[in-house]
Amino acid sequence: MKLDQAKKDYYRRIAKKEGYRSRATFKLIQIDKKYHIFKKKQIVVDFGCAPGGWLQYISRAIGNEGFALGIDLKRVEPIGSNVEILVADVNDESIKDKIMSKLRKKADVVTSDLSPNVSGIWELDVAKQIDLTSKVVEILPFILKEGGHAIMKVFQGAPFSEFLKKIKKNFKDVIIIKPPASRPESSEMYLLCREFIFQSSKDTT
Ligand SMILES: C[S@@+](CC[C@H](N)C(=O)[O-])C[C@H]1O[C@@H](n2cnc3c(N)ncnc32)[C@H](O)[C@@H]1O
Repeated sequence: MKLDQAKKDYYRRIAKKEGYRSRATFKLIQIDKKYHIFKKKQIVVDFGCAPGGWLQYISRAIGNEGFALGIDLKRVEPIGSNVEILVADVNDESIKDKIMSKLRKKADVVTSDLSPNVSGIWELDVAKQIDLTSKVVEILPFILKEGGHAIMKVFQGAPFSEFLKKIKKNFKDVIIIKPPASRPESSEMYLLCREFIFQSSKDTT
């Protein structure tokens, strides 16, 4: 068996054992174990949340006095009393208003694990993924508090460096992470963006 497949099977097995809906959950857990982003009572917005593995972890980490809003094209089975799901497209023009109407104040943390349906055409998939994630970045000034953090998946490819340059202007520091649970063969990386610097959305483009 290839190492890649063995790794997939390993995380699938422990996800099942620990009751997580996705093996992707371990990528977030590994990031959080090292950088301690999630805390009790936080407000979190999670983009591309289905089937809900990240939200299961976030829900526990923020506790009953916290609130998490998940957004996905797909429906998600209920997670807990501190989690609400918005079935919506991030490309929807009214997405930021829909999100803001659900939050009592701006989020402490925004996460994004957005992935398009991969076509296998490398350049196209990278462009689509960066495009989706750019939508999240566009609305950050409306939904993330000053000093808040973001964790975002990105596919590495030609548009990545331009994207990184842009995101670095919006945060005090940005760390590129390849969590052990992410397959080495996969082009995905995670950006841990700490301490959001508020600028109007026009300045961030
Ligand atoms: C890798 S999965 C997320 C897994 C999730 N983090 C978990 O642990 O369960 C990526 C998600 O992005 C969602 N997605 C893709 N395009 C989207 C869009 N335009 N708007 C909202 N969600 C989208 C997909 O439906 C898919 O559920």
